Amino acid sequence: MSIRRKLTVMMMAISVMAVAIAVAAVTVYLIYDMHKSKAQSVALLAHIAGDTNSAALAFQSKDNIQTNLEIYRSSPFIRAVCIYNEAGELFGEYEANIKQAFCLNKFTLLPDTLKDLITVKDEIRHSDALLGHIYVVSDTSDIESYVRRITQVSSIVTAFTLAFIILVALYFSRTLSGAIMELTTTIQSITGSGNYELKAKTHYSDEIGILAKAFNNMLGEVLRRDKDLADANERLEEKIEIRTHELLAAKKKAEAANEAKTEFLRNMSHEFRTPLHAILSFSSYGVSEYITAKREELKKYFEYINKGSERLGKLVNEVLDLAKMENGTQVFSMQYADLRELANRAYEPVASLMKDKDITLHIRHDEQEVGVNCDPDKIIQVITNLLSNAIKFTPPGHSITLKTQILNNMSTLSIIDEGIGIPEEEKEAIFESFRQSSRTNTGSGGTGLGLAICRNIINAHEGTIWAENNSNALGAKVTFALQSVPGAPGAQPQGVSYDQSYQN
Ligand SMILES: Nc1ncnc2c1ncn2[C@@H]1O[C@H](COP(=O)(O)OP(=O)(O)O)[C@@H](O)[C@H]1O
Ligand SMILES: [Mg+2]
Repeated sequence: MSIRRKLTVMMMAISVMAVAIAVAAVTVYLIYDMHKSKAQSVALLAHIAGDTNSAALAFQSKDNIQTNLEIYRSSPFIRAVCIYNEAGELFGEYEANIKQAFCLNKFTLLPDTLKDLITVKDEIRHSDALLGHIYVVSDTSDIESYVRRITQVSSIVTAFTLAFIILVALYFSRTLSGAIMELTTTIQSITGSGNYELKAKTHYSDEIGILAKAFNNMLGEVLRRDKDLADANERLEEKIEIRTHELLAAKKKAEAANEAKTEFLRNMSHEFRTPLHAILSFSSYGVSEYITAKREELKKYFEYINKGSERLGKLVNEVLDLAKMENGTQVFSMQYADLRELANRAYEPVASLMKDKDITLHIRHDEQEVGVNCDPDKIIQVITNLLSNAIKFTPPGHSITLKTQILNNMSTLSIIDEGIGIPEEEKEAIFESFRQSSRTNTGSGGTGLGLAICRNIINAHEGTIWAENNSNALGAKVTFALQSVPGAPGAQPQGVSYDQSYQN
């Protein structure tokens, strides 16, 4: 059964009950009241009749009494009026219907009550003296017709009231169930379509309005959670995309590293094979020709073998250095050092090379102090490497400049030569292992590891190293920069002067 029908039935049942009880109560009360007033009026009538006939009774005048009693014939409700004398014998009577007589011969025989009739017994007195008795019987037909009328009116009133109640019940059940139906329809369309943007109407100010508002709040909460979920999903997708990119980049890097390793091994075996080949061939010449060969020839073979071995040794050392540095096992003993002093010490190992090529080294220190925190031996190795490259690629009779200065809080050292320079697009590539510039890779005699080692050392010191070409003249300029640090106050590095030249 729908809520609307339940409400209608409930309201009607309650109303019908209330109307029925009210009508019944009023009817019962009216009937009771009618009976009461009827009994009172019959009693009054008996009293008056007694008074009226008292004189006739006192004079024993039956005719007078009979005449007096005849007036009751005009009263339709009086069924009998019986007058008894002092001795209680019937003296005069009025019977409305002779066939149904009520006046018995003896007053004492008269019944006190008769079914559906009103009976009144009274004394007839005159100046306190008892003259006789009166007995009046009245019917209640007027009450019955009154009750019938009341019942008719009550039924009509009840019917009208019921009709009115049905209308009111229908109206209220429609407004009540209408609001609930509206809410139900909204809920059904939301669950059916999954569209949580829809809202229930909240124009009712009663509990249903509150329910609709609560429902709307719940929808808002669902929407907010949906949005949070969608946002989280989006963020997750973004994260996945970023991670995928990162993974792809890492994969590419790993592939490049693998490629570089293969390239490195290929280059290395090539670099090893060349000096090894010279050592093998000249030593086997020596073995096979040591009796017949001239001493000068043998010396030449030994010189080739020696050169090859030196190159091999250098190569092995450099490869080991590089490997140590790349896997992080190289140990640095860090301390304060002045780049000017390190430059002086780096010059010694290359002095003879410079002398051989008649190259002049100009040293220019722009600052009082070019302090760095470093492993001095490693930085000397870098400077020596850079100097030997400069010497290698500078024509005889030219000069090289070593310059230290402080730029942007960094202590820098540059080696500027007057050599062949570096092709612009290869300024970075020459720092890779086994890489030589396109200008020099034919027989410059190097291993291509020197600059790679330099960059590794400088990187381990958290510095930078780069190559450029001199803007106004021939030649290249290689510079490294390390974080500048001040030394102990007043300390002066040994054997450093500001501008000096070594001419061999
Ligand atoms: N001062 C320079 N002038 C011109 N080219 C240079 C200079 N220094 C380095 N290069 C180029 O960089 C290459 C790599 O140098 P390096 O790593 O020291 O190896 P190697 O000296 O053994 O060849 C050199 O072969 C050369 O082509
Ligand atoms: Mg070199």
